[in-house]
Amino acid sequence: MKLETTLMGLSLKNPFIIGANPWTGKISKLKELEAAGASAVVLPSLFEEKIYLENYKHQEFLHEFDDLHAEMITQHPDTTYAGAHIYLHFIKLAKAALDIPVFASLNALTPDTWIHYAKKIEEAGADGLELNLYHTAKEPNRSSQDIEQEQLQIVQQLRSEIQIPISIKLSPFYTNTLHFIKRLEEIGVDGYVLYNRFFEEEINTDREVLTFPLRLSHGTEYTHAMKTIGLLYGTVKGDLIATSGLHTTESILQVLLAGASAVQVVSLIHKKSPKVLETLIEEMTQWMDQKGYGSLEAFRGSLSKKNLRDPYAFEREQYIDLLLKGKVL
Ligand SMILES: Cc1cc2nc3c(=O)[nH]c(=O)nc-3n(C[C@H](O)[C@H](O)[C@H](O)COP(=O)(O)O)c2cc1C
Repeated sequence: MKLETTLMGLSLKNPFIIGANPWTGKISKLKELEAAGASAVVLPSLFEEKIYLENYKHQEFLHEFDDLHAEMITQHPDTTYAGAHIYLHFIKLAKAALDIPVFASLNALTPDTWIHYAKKIEEAGADGLELNLYHTAKEPNRSSQDIEQEQLQIVQQLRSEIQIPISIKLSPFYTNTLHFIKRLEEIGVDGYVLYNRFFEEEINTDREVLTFPLRLSHGTEYTHAMKTIGLLYGTVKGDLIATSGLHTTESILQVLLAGASAVQVVSLIHKKSPKVLETLIEEMTQWMDQKGYGSLEAFRGSLSKKNLRDPYAFEREQYIDLLLKGKVL
C-alpha cells in the first residue's frame, strides 16, 4: 500500500520496474521478478534490424539480400528475438503469465516500422509501449534539429495511431533535453525514461582491434537523470522514470525526491539477483517509516527545482566554489 504509485495511468504496487533486458524475454525469469516484487516489466526491445532480418529470411529464395542477411547475423548474434512474430507472440505469453503490467519496447529507425509494429504491439495486449529513440551522432552533415524533427514526427504519427500509454526512452546526449521533452509533451507522450545507456566500442590494445564488451552500469551513473528529473518535475504532465546506475535504495530515494514516479533497474538484478528487489522494498519502507511518510506522494519531488524554489537548484554543476575547493569524494 505504502509504496503504491501511478504511472502513465496505470496503478503500480511499488516504483520498482524491471527495464528492458534479456531476462524479461524469458517467462521463468519474468515470474521470478514478479515474485520478488517487481511492479512492472519492460520486455527486451524489438529491434528494427530484426524485423528486417525476418522479412529478408522470407525472401531468401531471391538471394538478393544474402549479404545483408549475413551482416545482420554477425552484428546481432545474441539478440533473443529472431523477429517480430515471435515478439508479438511473447507479449501474449507474458501477459498470460503475469499479473503486473507488461510494457513492450520498440527500437526502430524508420517511420513505417514504428507505426506498423506499434499497432501490432497494442493488439497483442501490451499495457504500454516504450519507444527507444536510439540515436548516436555519426553523420556530420545532419543537424540536431533535423534529427529531432524526424523523431518528433515519428512520435506524433504514432500517438495518433495507438491508444496505449507511450513512454520515450531518451539518450542523454540531446543538446537541450528539456526543450525536446517539452515538444514531446505537446504531442501527448505519457512518460520519459531517463536515460538510455549505450554499449560502446573499446579498443583491445594487445590485439589492436575494436571490441564490444557488455558492461553493466556503475552505481554513480544516475546523477544525470536525477538532475533532469529535478528540473522537470512539476513542469510536465508525463511521468518521469529514472534509469541507469540505480543500484541502491539510497540512489532510488534520491531520484524519487527529485521527482521520479518510478525507476527501472537492470544491472542491479544481474549483479545480484531478482531477490534484491525484496531488499529495496524493505529498505525503502524502513526509510519512510523513520521519516513518517505514509506514501510516496508525501515526499516525491520535494527536492525538485520547483519545490526548492531556488533559482540555482540543479544548476550548479560548474559552480566555481566547488571547483576551487577541489574536495574530491
Ligand atoms: C544485457 C542488457 C540488455 C539490454 N537490452 C535492452 C533493450 O533491448 N532495450 C532497451 O531499451 N534497453 C536495453 N538495455 C538497457 C536497460 O534497459 C537499461 O536502460 C540500462 O541497462 C540502464 O539501467 P541499469 O543501470 O539498471 O542497468 C539492456 C541492458 C542490458 C544490461
